[in-house]
Amino acid sequence: MTTAAVLSIALDDVQDPPLLPLPAEVAALLQRVDAPPRLVAHLRAVHDVARQLVDRVGRRCPALSFDREAVLFGAATHDIGKALHIAELSGPGSLHEAAGQELLLAHGVSAERARFAATHASWDSAGIGIEDLLVSLADKVWTNKRVTGLEDRVVAALARAGGRPGWEEFLELDEFLTRVGDRADERLAYQMRHPVHG
Ligand SMILES: [Fe+2]
Repeated sequence: MTTAAVLSIALDDVQDPPLLPLPAEVAALLQRVDAPPRLVAHLRAVHDVARQLVDRVGRRCPALSFDREAVLFGAATHDIGKALHIAELSGPGSLHEAAGQELLLAHGVSAERARFAATHASWDSAGIGIEDLLVSLADKVWTNKRVTGLEDRVVAALARAGGRPGWEEFLELDEFLTRVGDRADERLAYQMRHPVHG
């Protein structure tokens, strides 16, 4: 794909549905790895949902300490390994996970930020941080996929930090995720308008 095409998908104004542009550093990275159009569109959709999620979590639970920029970077790059494993853009597979982490490291991204490419599918592993959980959650709810175990872990972190009962946090989060999920069809249609092969 041409440089202009990658940057255009990553950064141009999009109103149908409205999607934030990707961070400029990520757009440049996607251009360097020659990311396919559909991958760039997917990352833009998930990044947009992640931004809504971190805004919501930050407002709802200021006591929860997390690295907001790391979540946004992670959401914007989590599937970058699919630039190397293109079949996994339209079919199942996990080769893109380790490959994505290596690709980011090879392009000078810190280990702390490159990790999301490897952790976004393993939210149920031990030692996963709140940032990883939020990236995983954005990568589910962008298409209105609801995963109880993952949401439970986020609810537990919110309840612990904010000192409110888990059921109350659950109701709040559920209402928010339902609202975000309502626009899943538009996001999916946007992604599918972009071809797998550039
Ligand atoms: Fe994804």
